Amino acid sequence: MSTLPLQPLSVDDLLCTSALSADDFDSVFATAAALKAGRETHTDLLGNRRLAMIFEKDSLRTRFTFDIGMQDLGGTAVFMDHRDARLGSRESVKDMARNLERWVHGIVARTYKHKVLEEIAANADVPVINGLSDFVHPCQSLADFLTLREKWGSVQGRTLAYVGDGNNTCHSLIHTAAKLGTHIRVCSPEGYEPNSRVVNEAMRTAQETGSEITILNDPAAAADGADAVYTDVWASMGQEDEIEERNGVFADYQVDAALMARAKPDALFMHCLPAHRGWEVSQEVMDGPQSVVYDIAENRLHVQKALLVLLIA
Ligand code: CP
Ligand code: NVA
Repeated sequence: MSTLPLQPLSVDDLLCTSALSADDFDSVFATAAALKAGRETHTDLLGNRRLAMIFEKDSLRTRFTFDIGMQDLGGTAVFMDHRDARLGSRESVKDMARNLERWVHGIVARTYKHKVLEEIAANADVPVINGLSDFVHPCQSLADFLTLREKWGSVQGRTLAYVGDGNNTCHSLIHTAAKLGTHIRVCSPEGYEPNSRVVNEAMRTAQETGSEITILNDPAAAADGADAVYTDVWASMGQEDEIEERNGVFADYQVDAALMARAKPDALFMHCLPAHRGWEVSQEVMDGPQSVVYDIAENRLHVQKALLVLLIA
């Protein structure tokens, strides 16, 4: 059926990229590249496979790319919108997981609490993929690094500057950069730095991979000579009541042309999207020639198809 060189993953679920081995990253990227090159070829890899998608928060990219990814591969996805009632309110998360495992071959969940995701994974005997939690966004950073590999060849020894909130997207970038030997400088206002456990774990990993992890507060210093500059929203989903306060705190952290000019002349601009133009990124940078935001969005599809094939085929 398959002509893909599939190398099984060492994990049963994808909750966090910190759990992936070097071989796992190679496998995901190789499979994603092969699926991207042969989108019309590998159309039956997930024939008769079904995916449950349970989302507590809004989504454009994650929802569409998992749904379309399943369709591309001959499978089906069933979506359950939980924006109005958090998971666990109608029945326990454990019972929900134990039902779902009887019907589907995999679950993608977008939750507020990372612990809820872990509870689903602990109780469902089918692979569970994190479609974004308050802690990490693993599918995003896999697409980010697939894009960087396409642009640069190797990501080893390159420098990524992340300017903004030390949030879920940032945590996955730190985990993934450390694993892949990419240097990462994270620049946030005081009090909005990334989780210290994430940073400490990444620093330990970095000793083996040669990555350098730097946490600072000055955007100019972070962007200086960087190969790519990344940002994300200043207020994540669930933090809507902090928007006004955060807009003030982060006012000097916008990625604009002046900040990009401090990075290398061919530096890439990255954002997981959705973007708030005029806030964390200027219109000019978002639409400028260095922006690869839509390449990343496209790669969400390819990298998640790879995960689906590797985890549930
Ligand atoms: N980047 C991302 O996860 O986008 P969505 O929130 O639209 O899924
Ligand atoms: N940090 C953002 C990412 C959205 C994809 C959020 O959690 O809302």
